[in-house]
Amino acid sequence: METTLQTERLILNRPRGEDVDAMFRILSDRRTTRHNPGDTLGWREEAEGLFAHWEDQWDRHGVGYFAVRLPERTDPIGFAGVKHVLLDDRPVLDLYYRLEYRSWGKGYGTEAVRAVVVHVNELLELPPIMARVKPRNVASAKIVAGLGFIRAPGLDLSADDEHEDVYVLNWDRQL
Ligand SMILES: CC(C)(COP(=O)(O)OP(=O)(O)OC[C@H]1O[C@@H](n2cnc3c(N)ncnc32)[C@H](O)[C@@H]1OP(=O)(O)O)[C@@H](O)C(=O)NCCC(=O)NCCS
Repeated sequence: METTLQTERLILNRPRGEDVDAMFRILSDRRTTRHNPGDTLGWREEAEGLFAHWEDQWDRHGVGYFAVRLPERTDPIGFAGVKHVLLDDRPVLDLYYRLEYRSWGKGYGTEAVRAVVVHVNELLELPPIMARVKPRNVASAKIVAGLGFIRAPGLDLSADDEHEDVYVLNWDRQL
């Protein structure tokens, strides 16, 4: 059965094939990926490949990245969800949220990410969740801190001179 999350202003559900255009539009926009330039999509085919990965997560785990929608618009304003990953061989969830640039600053990020976290806490009984935040990404840090994530400096990630602050929730639990 399809999972739909409803918030005061948003609807979150599993992305559909027709959302690949919006994935490409949003994830190829360098304003959206300003804190993660290496993730910027260059070709629509990359969005198709990403969509296949996202489908695989949903099929295997019953949860993944949601399309974030306004009721009055057909194309999503962004994406938010979790991915199952291994961190030092330990299964955990990696939190993801990315909205189109013109929808920033209206509280949609907070609203969408809260809905995702509440959902996975219920579905997977308080799973360990990590959020990777670029130090200059103030909005991103505020969102996770507001949801009760705590800084875990010992888990901070550095690759290719890029540092990411790691925040965690339910970290003493098992997935
Ligand atoms: C991170 C992101 C989802 C935030 O979404 P948003 O809808 O703009 O966030 P909100 O409006 O809910 O704001 C969240 C908080 O950050 C603050 N904020 C928003 N934009 C800000 C900015 N540019 N500078 C400082 N603070 C900011 C808000 O005031 C709010 O603070 P509060 O909780 O104290 O009220 C959005 O900026 C985005 O998609 N960024 C690109 C992708 C990304 O960086 N994702 C995170 C890592 S995967």
